[in-house]
Amino acid sequence: ESSNILDLFKLDGKTALVTGAAQGIGFEIAKALGEAGAKVTIADMNPAVGEAAASSIGAAFEPLNVTDPAAVRTLAQKLDALDILVNNAGIVRNVPSEDISNADWEVVMSVNVNGVFWCCREFGKKMLDARKGSIISTSSMSGMISNHPQPQSGYNASKAAVIHLTRSLAGEWAGRGVRVNSVAPGYTATPMTILGLETPEWRETWLKETPMGRLAEPREIAPAVVYLASDASSFVTGHTLVVDGGYTV
Ligand code: NAI
Repeated sequence: ESSNILDLFKLDGKTALVTGAAQGIGFEIAKALGEAGAKVTIADMNPAVGEAAASSIGAAFEPLNVTDPAAVRTLAQKLDALDILVNNAGIVRNVPSEDISNADWEVVMSVNVNGVFWCCREFGKKMLDARKGSIISTSSMSGMISNHPQPQSGYNASKAAVIHLTRSLAGEWAGRGVRVNSVAPGYTATPMTILGLETPEWRETWLKETPMGRLAEPREIAPAVVYLASDASSFVTGHTLVVDGGYTV
């Protein structure tokens, strides 16, 4: 059977679920997967924003807090085995390491590491039974470099954990039809950065340290996820695809 190379990128007939997709990078990922042909579900802990976001792109919405393993299991059991899972929900706390509270440290680990793992475990189990699936997590360039001068050691450590969890699960599941990869964005213009932690000083540092001299648009992260979700990447697993305007070079 012959086919055009572009057909490999098509997601027609596939199902996808994207966590933390009510806004920002996750929303653009959900939109792009839908445009590539997938039937998409947005899962987010913010139903007010998430439901409107989902309906704007013809996606389904499920309320989900990824830190709750029982809720993740219930949702995985409710849905048929997914073809594509995108673990995108993530948070940051910018507090100097000598001052950070137990609660701030733990909530970052709970969302960024535990949340990714609960989703991999529960949705992954069903993918393994179906012997098919592609899991993509949104890690970060912060999992590769220390991302100074921002005081976010917990975030950096959590994203390094996502990158190595990706390799570890890829190795465990490679022989059973399930691929596991991650996409590592650099500074991207989203509510997290623009509203959450931007100061003029940091913005200047980001622009100076990003060789391309600008932030990414969320729309520029999504194609990397479409690639890893699709049959175009059928022999790629355990990989972290960096989309950072050259920051980590
Ligand atoms: P954002 O803050 O704009 O959006 C995050 C979304 O995740 C929100 O809709 C929020 O409701 C949801 N969420 C948060 N905690 C959740 C939970 N426990 N369960 C379910 N949903 C939850 O963030 P942004 O910037 O779009 O980031 C998305 C991902 O990309 C995160 O994993 C982040 O760490 C990562 N990233 C972001 C970069 C940036 O510069 N914005 C750079 C590199 C990585």
